[in-house]
Amino acid sequence: MAIPQALRAFLEGTRHRWLVTGSAGFIGSHLIETLLACGQEVVSLDNFATGHRRNLFEAEAGAGAGAARHHRFIEGDIRDPATCRAACEGVDFVLHQAALGSVPRSIADPLTTHAANATGFLNMLVASRDAGVRRFVYAASSSTYGDHPALPKLEEAIGRPLSPYAVTKYLDELYADVFARCYGIEAIGLRYFNVFGARQDPEGAYAAVIPKWARALLAGETVFVNGDGETSRDFCYIDNAVQANLLAALSGDPDAVNQVYNVAVGERTSLNALFGMIRDSLAGTHEAIAAAKPQYRDFRAGDVRHSQADIGKAARLLGYRPTHRLEEGLREAMPWYVRQFAPAQELAAVK
Ligand SMILES: NC(=O)c1ccc[n+]([C@@H]2O[C@H](COP(=O)([O-])OP(=O)(O)OC[C@H]3O[C@@H](n4cnc5c(N)ncnc54)[C@H](O)[C@@H]3O)[C@@H](O)[C@H]2O)c1
Repeated sequence: MAIPQALRAFLEGTRHRWLVTGSAGFIGSHLIETLLACGQEVVSLDNFATGHRRNLFEAEAGAGAGAARHHRFIEGDIRDPATCRAACEGVDFVLHQAALGSVPRSIADPLTTHAANATGFLNMLVASRDAGVRRFVYAASSSTYGDHPALPKLEEAIGRPLSPYAVTKYLDELYADVFARCYGIEAIGLRYFNVFGARQDPEGAYAAVIPKWARALLAGETVFVNGDGETSRDFCYIDNAVQANLLAALSGDPDAVNQVYNVAVGERTSLNALFGMIRDSLAGTHEAIAAAKPQYRDFRAGDVRHSQADIGKAARLLGYRPTHRLEEGLREAMPWYVRQFAPAQELAAVK
């Protein structure tokens, strides 16, 4: 886990209590790993809706010997206000990640997505306000740009949402803004753009593209591309997202607070190009992978065609500097997928 040295040193010179929700998930587990590695006290909360206990174990192990002693995990649901209240007790900073991701899931089941992403979010805001937390940093989403055609995306120019998921994430921004105005809470929203890295779940109908394709290639299965493959995204390695969370929580600049920020790299890669990069980075694992070709199928409902962030605002106000571009992130992330999914005899061959 690489965060800039100055940020790490700053964090190591402090000791705070952090609450990370969604800690058994992908982004949350990396947040707790970094915080524990930097000597922080961490409370975390998850109901395992999409997260896994093994992510908590991996994060604790990755944080180093003894780090787990400073982590208290609460198995609980943010849809329950009392659980949120208990989790926020004595907390300085909240990094709120718990939500049901996935555009298609929200189209299939808008009520469940709303309950976690909107009602659960509001419960967390109320609990954070009542506990007097110093800052509430939350996972917003690039889906909030909806059908706005401009590229790259600037924070103030959003379109109409294209899915129930996007509605919930925009609603979260509105609630955070109103809580700042009505109750003086300090909130910062991070609009993540396609975050990827180790521990991002490749399983299930709602998996994100990078883990799904990596698993399929390693398992010798067909990789499906939705549409013509020229759909493009701003893929953001997990270390960049962790950096943004820490900067947002710790910023002492009053102008930086009660804002939303794009969290990405500021580059755009097509799905066709991404396929080539993943295939090449896994080609050494199994000779058949080098020759793999994707299969194209229909476009998916609710997906935006192109996405690319302008990261100037986060750079200016938070000092955000992505440390990893897509290729570098893939290079760091792929060994984790190889360990999970490459058959044992092939692993032996690449050692
Ligand atoms: N990964 C991305 O590219 C991306 C992009 C934009 C926004 N986001 C947002 O970032 C956050 C983290 O995403 P992720 O990729 O780590 O997803 P994830 O599914 O791996 O993690 C989300 C975690 O939240 C937990 N959770 C869900 N509902 C809950 C509830 N009711 N109570 C308690 N815990 C609950 C899940 O069990 C899971 O562990 C989410 O808010 C997501 O919407 C992610």
